[in-house]
Amino acid sequence: MSFYGGPRSCIGFRFAIAEMKSLLFHVIRGFEFKLAVDEDALWSRSGILMRPQLRGSNKTELPVVLTPLG
Ligand code: HEM
Repeated sequence: MSFYGGPRSCIGFRFAIAEMKSLLFHVIRGFEFKLAVDEDALWSRSGILMRPQLRGSNKTELPVVLTPLG
């Protein structure tokens, strides 16, 4: 819904998505991502989307440690 729909919807929709992907790529590749907890402590809760959760918790979370690269 961010780009609205119908005859007056955003003509920059696909361009804006490509820009966001490009920005994310440049930000993400500057970091090393490592799980902050043991892999076994996590599970994927399935609803409309799959979401990571720590076992025994109701919160959606994925604890990671980000280390800036070079
Ligand atoms: C995150 C980025 C963007 C969002 C959330 C967004 C959102 C929207 C929305 C909601 C509308 C409809 C406005 C209305 O109902 O009057 C719209 C229209 C429009 N957008 Fe975007 N937009 C984005 C980026 C862009 C980009 C990058 C371009 C051009 C390269 C663009 C060009 C346009 C144009 C020309 C319209 C008018 C379409 C018409 O009235 O026929 N937008 N945008």
